[in-house]
Amino acid sequence: MINALRGMKDITFEESKRFIYIIETASKIAQNYGYGYIETPILEETKLFKRSVGESSDIVGKEMYQFIDKGENDVCMRPEGTAGVVRAFVQAKLDRVQNQKHRFYYYGAMFRYEKPQKGRLREFHQFGCESFGESSVYEDFTIISMIGEIFKALGIKYKLKINSLGCVECMPTYKESLINFLTPIKEELCNDCQRRIDTNPIRVLDCKNPHCQELITDSPKLTFNLCSSCDSDFEKLKSLLNSANVNYEIDTNLVRGLDYYNKTAFEFVSDEIGSQSAIAGGGRYDRLVEFLDGKSTPAVGFALGIERIWELVKMPISTREGYYFGAMNQEGVEILLALAQKTRLTQKVSVEYAPKKLQAHLKNADKANAQYLLFLGEDELKEGKVWIKNLETKEETIRLMEDF
Ligand code: HAM
Repeated sequence: MINALRGMKDITFEESKRFIYIIETASKIAQNYGYGYIETPILEETKLFKRSVGESSDIVGKEMYQFIDKGENDVCMRPEGTAGVVRAFVQAKLDRVQNQKHRFYYYGAMFRYEKPQKGRLREFHQFGCESFGESSVYEDFTIISMIGEIFKALGIKYKLKINSLGCVECMPTYKESLINFLTPIKEELCNDCQRRIDTNPIRVLDCKNPHCQELITDSPKLTFNLCSSCDSDFEKLKSLLNSANVNYEIDTNLVRGLDYYNKTAFEFVSDEIGSQSAIAGGGRYDRLVEFLDGKSTPAVGFALGIERIWELVKMPISTREGYYFGAMNQEGVEILLALAQKTRLTQKVSVEYAPKKLQAHLKNADKANAQYLLFLGEDELKEGKVWIKNLETKEETIRLMEDF
């Protein structure tokens, strides 16, 4: 027997209903916020992710599904959606359309060669949004509010964590003071963190090793080292969230695992799903368009992990839907096949191909959660009629087949 690869899952039955419900709900809300659908390829040039997600990140360093294709191209299955959307944005020359906002939403499979565990897959699905051309912190507030709306519509409880990562003005000075703090304790940090001091010291802040966390308790904090522009944006974001009664927590160690962020960074977490608690994450990435050869364009976005939330989703109570067609004999079944084709132009119809008695069809139609049973017995067949029962109200009617 051939099984799916480790860390990869089929989406079927109950999960597939949840999957579609999450995507439909999130897409509708994103559309109301002005986002249009974008689809980018799963396979991209490896250098796209090296340049955007960053060589020092775990994603690029350890987790990429990277290979040389038949044309000798160094390619990679996307580990996340932002890089591809930015590449598409620059390729379509939208960075040159000034004074216009461009907002995209997407969903699809992402691939990271991580150690699989509950909530952590090697192939997983994200729903994400990317907004280009708006530097105002109002956009950060709006996108955070939109994610809140999505989780509310799905019936999911969450905690919001925010931080500011500063900008080219304030980040270098902060990094320097962090390196000064970390260097004397270097030997005591885990191997990954020792390496991070040289490659990207702020990643030490969100190391999962409890000993490293203990050692950095008194490290300099990002939010106390912001320049005046980053500081006023962060203050504004907090006051907007306060006015909107959005609960949040400032997490000065929240740096995100991807290198492209600046200013606002945020994560939505759930305490109902175990250790892999991040259900969505994102932030501002004002320099990424430029890193990918576009004209400098401010941007902010997020992605949520579909597999992380599907067990939390409160689905609407399923209601009866559509028609179940059944007949008493083979001739009746063939008539129903033609009738179903016509009815399917407007309604959901399932046809039972095996001839059965009325009682058996009633039982099956009920199991299939149909709203109506349409039955063709021997008498109805002779008279050119159909017998219909509304399985919810129990109302029964007989109609001429040609009028149906
Ligand atoms: P991320 O935090 O790496 O951000 O991923 C976003 C979400 O994807 C996470 O919060 C989590 O719910 C889900 N996720 C990540 N890895 C896995 C995994 N191995 N298995 C299951 N679910 C997972 C990004 O990917 C950024 N591109 C988000 C963004 C968009 N920032 C700006 N725009």
